[in-house]
Amino acid sequence: MTAIANPAPVQSAIEPHARAQFPLLQPTIGMPMLDLRSLASRQGCYAYDPGLGETGICRSSITYVDGERRILLYRGYPIDALVENCSFLEVAWLLTNGELPDAGQLAGFTRDITRHTMLNEQIHAIFRGFRRDAHPMAVMCGVVGALAAFYHDGLDIFDRRHRLVASHRLIAKMPTIAAMAYKYSLGQPFVYPRNDLGYAENLLAMLFSVPCEAFRLAPAAAKALEALLIIQADHEQNASTTAMRLVGSTRANPYACTAAAIAALWRPLHGGANEAVIETLKAIGTVERIPEMLRRAKDRTDPFRLMGFGHRVYKSYDPRAKVLRPLCQEIMASLGRSDDPLLRLALELERIALEDEYFIKRKLYPNVDFYSGLIFRALGLPASMFTPIFAVARTAGWLAHWNEMIADPETRICRPRQLYQGPAERPLVAIADRQPCPPLVG
Ligand code: ACO
Repeated sequence: MTAIANPAPVQSAIEPHARAQFPLLQPTIGMPMLDLRSLASRQGCYAYDPGLGETGICRSSITYVDGERRILLYRGYPIDALVENCSFLEVAWLLTNGELPDAGQLAGFTRDITRHTMLNEQIHAIFRGFRRDAHPMAVMCGVVGALAAFYHDGLDIFDRRHRLVASHRLIAKMPTIAAMAYKYSLGQPFVYPRNDLGYAENLLAMLFSVPCEAFRLAPAAAKALEALLIIQADHEQNASTTAMRLVGSTRANPYACTAAAIAALWRPLHGGANEAVIETLKAIGTVERIPEMLRRAKDRTDPFRLMGFGHRVYKSYDPRAKVLRPLCQEIMASLGRSDDPLLRLALELERIALEDEYFIKRKLYPNVDFYSGLIFRALGLPASMFTPIFAVARTAGWLAHWNEMIADPETRICRPRQLYQGPAERPLVAIADRQPCPPLVG
């Protein structure tokens, strides 16, 4: 932490009984929350909570996570039951609409989604403006943001029907955009969507088929991808969903909000961890080097961390990783990749870390990205494409939250406070009389 020139004195102005003065909001399940909306007017202070770890920013009925009890529910349904019984599109419908669709609704939704899978041909020109070696997440941020230029005029975000069409467009076009980003990086022709295929199947076809030969779809690959999409579809108020809500709270265009969410998802502390897991495993290299690398991960002076371990909310085994672990082994076996040295290394690393005092004490368990990276790799994707596929899945959750937020009468522009610790008001010094500015610290 950087030293603060004039740290503000700590004051204990609030009486112990202060809590009783604020209403307690009761959730369906989980911990209640103090309603602090009148905090400043009643107590003359604000709440300080960097990272918002203790603060609820909205009411939501979409997803419930209990980090201690390893629970993840979408609209009340456990994640493992959804993976076992539902398609990704059923889950996407569930997230936005609150209930699972019946057969007629699912058929209608599937029709709507397949009608929107193609991109305006002008967008191809936008792709061609990127450097060939640009990271696909950078390309996705740019292209999804650019959709706002195509779908803006006439879009009324307070009209539920307009919101639904925008949501369907995004869910439909994200696989096409992710696959095009991949094809562009390879220098291969873009592959148009195939509306005769399922959602995951179509994504695989756009990623891996080439015009000069017939494409053979591996059912095991489609099954694994469908499961990954469901598992990654939502996770309540995570960083990227919060970005979606924050930008959306200004009434921004939903395509621009989604571009912001993609940016938030990108890097290793959030969705980019799946890419970083593979880098970590490669850096470890062999089973023999695990103890040495664990020592480094535990050393506070060493920036090396075990990517794919730890979570802000889960302080026990991530329920998503629990579903993905056997799936990972199953897909590796059916695709003939069981002998992948990274899989063996990952299983051994998990075993050793889970017995290590440091990880036990801090409740650091494998998270969703620990296994999703290995599955993406087994599907034949390079590490740079892991997070784009995650973004395809999470789009369903982002849009469910955006819809919920816009319809919520309590929504206000998201505008947090700060604990100001800069200089108090002071007179301006003429340039000739100024001292050289000291270098910035940190
Ligand atoms: N390797 C080594 N030590 C770790 C790790 C790790 N992966 N994760 C946390 N720790 C240690 C911290 O150094 C800290 O130790 P200390 O108490 O001695 O200071 C303690 O565990 C608590 O960690 P924080 O960083 O304070 O926890 P926070 O909730 O802020 O961070 C996070 C959670 C960002 C996920 C963190 O665990 C991490 O960096 N993990 C690796 C990246 C990763 O896998 N991210 C994906 C998350 S899942 C998702 O977003 C889809």
